Amino acid sequence: MGEIDEVVRVQFGEDGVAEIVLSRPEKLNVVNLRMRDALIEAFSAVRDFPELGALVLRAEGAHFSAGADIGEFGNAESIFEARRIRWDRDPWYLLWTLPVPKVVALHGYALGSGLEMALLCDLRIAAHGTRVGLPESKLGMLPAAGGTRSISAWVTPSKALPFIMAGEPIDAVQAQILGIIDEVLPEGADVDEKALSYARRLAALPRVAVRAALKAAKAARELPLREGLAAERRLAYLTGQFKYD
Ligand code: COA
Repeated sequence: MGEIDEVVRVQFGEDGVAEIVLSRPEKLNVVNLRMRDALIEAFSAVRDFPELGALVLRAEGAHFSAGADIGEFGNAESIFEARRIRWDRDPWYLLWTLPVPKVVALHGYALGSGLEMALLCDLRIAAHGTRVGLPESKLGMLPAAGGTRSISAWVTPSKALPFIMAGEPIDAVQAQILGIIDEVLPEGADVDEKALSYARRLAALPRVAVRAALKAAKAARELPLREGLAAERRLAYLTGQFKYD
């Protein structure tokens, strides 16, 4: 497994699965600027690697991630510096738009931008006992790694809003009922292994078709019906299924 920085490790497997591993366990994998930059590099590499079939995002240590590094808030030397750091380089949209299916393996706490990262993935699998939350409101902030928007890709607005506003972490089983988590594993089951096996199955499928299906499903969410249907038709041509010769 290669290191982009010691806080993020990346591996491109021969099975067509890439793994991105958050590796700052002593600080609960909180996302500091260094990790943000490393994630931009990791996501860019995944975006640019055409042979890839699926991505697994996972984390070392007792928790997936306790969110943004609070210690770095309000420390920039000027408003220009703050803008340059936080808004000119956007790992989150990059993650959302990666052209391969993204499976995230959650365990322990997934809070704030930890959960927001997961919400930008396509399939969320959680170990028994995982707790997820967007605690920003309790800190006088709002989730700014895309959370207020990305959550409504999976959860109806009427369920998303109380969850966002309350800021209270909930158990994975409750999160599954809401639609935030797709699968919660029984006690003792290895969530990383489960995510990897799921990703391997996806990577073994015809890649053009899987990438096209992912793109069409995203278009269905983001576009009005007519444009979504047109996008699906264009993507179906791309797979070659409408060729007659
Ligand atoms: N930013 C910076 N440091 C953080 C952090 C964060 N978001 N979350 C935890 N840490 C640090 C703690 O300050 C502590 O550092 P220390 O060992 O140098 O004292 C270390 O990580 C361990 O945290 P601790 O609170 O002792 O662990 P815990 O197991 O008792 O509690 C949590 C775990 C996740 C419940 C708790 O750390 C927490 O609520 N963190 C804040 C989560 C949050 O608000 N995230 C959103 C940020 S926008």
